Amino acid sequence: MNIASTKTAPSGSSKARSADITVVGGAGHVGIPLVLAFTEAGLTVNVNDLNEAALMTLRSGKLPFIEHGAAPLLARALGGNKLLFTSAPDAIGRRGPVIITIGTPVDEFLNPVQSEVQRCVDALLPHVSDEQLLILRSTVYPGTTDWLQDHLRRLGRKNGVAFCPERVVQGYGIKELREMPQIVSATSHDAEKEAIEIFRLIAPELVVVKPIEAEFAKLFNNAYRYIEFAASNQFYMIAKSAGADYQAIMRAMKQNYPRAKSFPGPGFSAGPCLFKDTMQLAAYARNQFGLGHAAMQVNEGLVLQLVDDLRRAYKISDMTIGLLGMAFKAEIDDTRASLSYKLKHTLKMCARNVLTTDPFVTTDADIVPLDQVVERSDILILCTPHSMYADADLKGKPVVDVWGFLKNANVIY
Ligand SMILES: NC(=O)c1ccc[n+]([C@@H]2O[C@H](COP(=O)([O-])OP(=O)(O)OC[C@H]3O[C@@H](n4cnc5c(N)ncnc54)[C@H](O)[C@@H]3O)[C@@H](O)[C@H]2O)c1
Repeated sequence: MNIASTKTAPSGSSKARSADITVVGGAGHVGIPLVLAFTEAGLTVNVNDLNEAALMTLRSGKLPFIEHGAAPLLARALGGNKLLFTSAPDAIGRRGPVIITIGTPVDEFLNPVQSEVQRCVDALLPHVSDEQLLILRSTVYPGTTDWLQDHLRRLGRKNGVAFCPERVVQGYGIKELREMPQIVSATSHDAEKEAIEIFRLIAPELVVVKPIEAEFAKLFNNAYRYIEFAASNQFYMIAKSAGADYQAIMRAMKQNYPRAKSFPGPGFSAGPCLFKDTMQLAAYARNQFGLGHAAMQVNEGLVLQLVDDLRRAYKISDMTIGLLGMAFKAEIDDTRASLSYKLKHTLKMCARNVLTTDPFVTTDADIVPLDQVVERSDILILCTPHSMYADADLKGKPVVDVWGFLKNANVIY
């Protein structure tokens, strides 16, 4: 293994030369749990990220966002001098594998922005040696790993390339990295061998496949999940239009019926990954991914359907609507691509006023405390099923609860 062996650099040092491994994008949602998994395995990690504020936060022993179970690991890593923090490509250091966990968005045409990966790698190349394995961890467009290998060859570089996708659920990476198999793939036998040795340090099980298989596996995992949510959301809307109780229907479908055990409930299906990855796959399939597009139509359409139904049933132009939960899923603070905001923007065009609250989100100046939202709203909509809402006193106000989450509330929809 080519993991560098010196582990003596002080925490907070900007010198990356003594890190065993570098995680580019190491202060992000995927980066942080991965960094801490490697420090727990005894490695010294260079946390390389353009976001200097997030690096400062980490260096001070805090997390820039909610990552369950990460705080004690961060404290241990800092205490053991296992972390280096660097913010520029020239601080990568010429030893140890380099794992890339940067964001890989789609553009306004829902096409992947492959240039992000190229820009990142091109900036790193002058500062890494040919012996260093480059491991893509970000979710990439199919063919990107082989493309990167070709790109390097054209530049006269000899670096091995691997693709080992991240599949943890956001906010719970620490737990899932310990429990879940890691997919490992690489463009050569040597690169594959090295990637296996690296991920063996942190994973209970490895699945070794070719890069194109790993790329598809990651995208199929996410697109399938997105389609599953869409199936439930579509059934929900059909049941609603018939005036039937979808929660009762789900109980009938699932109770002691093993084939429906994993069928998800309805809800706002959003966030930075499922939609985006389904669209990466659609772009790869020349937009002939009917199931994926149908899932987008249903999942994104659910909130619009909700607004339409409310408009028909109530004079919402005279009403204040309160939104409970602005994060894209429960128990986290991440608002990226949250459908709560789509709902907010849509309602702003037709309601008298829209108020928002969330117990975790700290990045939205419009958010007000729950009791104010409850007090001042005519109708509440549960957008994110944070556990604290389960027992919250909603003062008997009418509530929309697509999730079927609230037990003692005045649910009207
Ligand atoms: N969030 C998840 O739970 C999750 C799960 C599985 C896979 N993924 C995939 O992982 C990738 C990263 O997602 P994320 O949610 O962690 O994104 P993120 O925005 O939270 O983190 C990316 C980090 O990369 C940094 N960065 C960007 N360009 C850089 C560069 N050139 N050099 C150094 N740092 C750079 C950013 O500052 C940021 O801190 C995406 O491809 C995503 O689809 C995410």
